Amino acid sequence: MENPIVRPRGRAPRWAAGIVILVTCLASSQGCGSSDSGADGGVASGDVDAAACPMAALLEQNCQSCHAAKPVAGAPMPLVTWNDLMAPSHSDPARHVYEMVKVRTNATDKFMPPTGHLTEQQLGVIDAWMNAGEPNCGFASGAKKPGGTVTGTADDSDGGVSENEVIKPEACYEIHAHGEQTPGDSTPFTVAPSQFYHAFNFKVPYDKDVKGLIFKSLIDNSAVVHHWLLYQVNGTPDADGTHKNTGGMHTNDTLLFGWAPGGAPPSMPPGVGFQMPKPGSTLQLEIHYYNTTGMAQPDRTGMSFCVTSKPTKYTAATTTLGSELILLLPAKTGTATGTCNPGFKNGKDKRDIHILYSSPHMHKTGVRMTTIINRVGGEKETLIDKPFAFLEQHDYPTPVIIHPGDTLTTTCTFDNMSSGIVTYGPSTTQEMCYNFVVAYPADLLANPGGSLQGADNTCLQ
Ligand code: HEC
Repeated sequence: MENPIVRPRGRAPRWAAGIVILVTCLASSQGCGSSDSGADGGVASGDVDAAACPMAALLEQNCQSCHAAKPVAGAPMPLVTWNDLMAPSHSDPARHVYEMVKVRTNATDKFMPPTGHLTEQQLGVIDAWMNAGEPNCGFASGAKKPGGTVTGTADDSDGGVSENEVIKPEACYEIHAHGEQTPGDSTPFTVAPSQFYHAFNFKVPYDKDVKGLIFKSLIDNSAVVHHWLLYQVNGTPDADGTHKNTGGMHTNDTLLFGWAPGGAPPSMPPGVGFQMPKPGSTLQLEIHYYNTTGMAQPDRTGMSFCVTSKPTKYTAATTTLGSELILLLPAKTGTATGTCNPGFKNGKDKRDIHILYSSPHMHKTGVRMTTIINRVGGEKETLIDKPFAFLEQHDYPTPVIIHPGDTLTTTCTFDNMSSGIVTYGPSTTQEMCYNFVVAYPADLLANPGGSLQGADNTCLQ
C-alpha cells in the first residue's frame, strides 16, 4: 500500500446493497474456512507428508501420544493441526502455542517431551519451520481421534481450540477475489501478466456489532499473489462486489491487517476480540498481484474471518507507531525516528497494554525497522527489529506487555539511492515510517495528534 492512512474509527459509512455471506459455521472448534489445512474429515493423523512438512511429522512422532486431538496424560492442548500451533498458549495467552513449543523443547527444566530431549536435528526441524514463518505446510486435520474414530462435527468442540478459549465464533465469513462486478460472484478474477494492486469491496456480512476472533488467509493461485491487505473503508465506499486497480493508495481507509507469504493474519487470544467495522461498513481486500508467468492467470484468493456478537473481555485494535518527520538526503542512508508515549487515556487509565502483532510499513527506500520499548526503569527491550522490503510486508507476532510510563521508539532506516530529497508522503516516490501494531485494550496505546493526516489511532513522534 502506498498510503495506509488511518482515520477515526467508528464512523458508519453508508449502506451499500448486497450481502457476501459465503460461509457460516456455527461454533466450529476449528474456526471456519478450512480449505488450508484439510477440511474436517480430511487428512487423518498419520497421513502427514513428512517430506513437505517435517514439522508435522515431528509432532506426530514425538508429541501426539499426549498432545492428541483430544489431549491425554494431562497435556493441556492438542498439537495436531496448524490452528493448534497458532492458538494462544495455555500458560501465557499472549504467546502462541508454537512459541511455547520452541521454549519447552529447548528447556533445561520441564522440557518436552517429558521423556527426554529431542535431538539437535529434531530441534533444527522446529527452528527451520519457524524461520520459514510457521507455514501451514500440511498438518493433520485433527478430525481423527487416536484409535481411529472419526469425530462428528458435534463432538469435536475441544478438538482444535485450547480449553480457555472462552468465546466461540458464532459465524464465519469468506471474502474472495472474483471476476464480475457483482456481490456474491464466484467466478475467478483474471490476473493480467504484470504487477499491480487490485482492491475488492465487500459490504460487511453481519448486521450487529461484532468482534473478530479468527482470521485466515485463503490463498488460491500462489504463483501470482504477492500479499494482501485488509482495510476498513471510511470515506464513501465503492459499491458492494465491485473491484478495481488502486495503485495502492488509501487516503481514507483504516488498515486492519495484512498477510504475506510465511505469515498468518492475527488471531486473537482468549478473551480478546478484534474491533471490526460497524454493520453497514465496507471492507476492502487489496491484493498485490505479481504475475511473472507471462500469461493471464485465474485467482480466487481471499480470507476468512470468524466473529462473535458476545462481549469479549478486551477489544484489540490497530494503532500506528512511527514517524512522519522524514527527510532523506540524496544518495544517502537516512533514518526517521518517532517515540510513542502511550495515551493510557490521558493518564487516567492505568491498565497494561498488550501488544500482539507488529506490521512494519515503509515505501521503496525502506530497509529496516526497529521498535524498542523504553521501560520506566530504564531498561530497553526490542519489540521488533526486522529487515524491510517493499515487496515483502509481514505481520509479526510480537507479544509483549507495556506498563504505564513505558514508551516505544520506532526507527526506520532508508536507503535513498535517488538524486533528490525524499520526504514523508503517500506516493511511492515519497516515504513512510509506520509500524501498525495490534494491541488491547483498544485505543489505550493511541496518543493522537502527531499525524499530518489527522488520524486518531496513532501514537507517533
Ligand atoms: C508423555 C506425554 C507428553 C508428551 C509426549 C509431550 N508432552 Fe508436552 N506436555 C505434557 C503435559 C502433561 C504438559 C502440561 C504440564 C507442563 O506444562 O509441563 C505439557 C505441556 C506442554 C507445553 C506447555 C503448554 C503451555 O501452554 O505452556 C508445551 C509447549 C508442550 N507440552 C509441547 C510439547 C511438544 C512440542 C512435545 C513433543 C516434542 C510434547 N510436548 C510431548 C505431556 C507431554
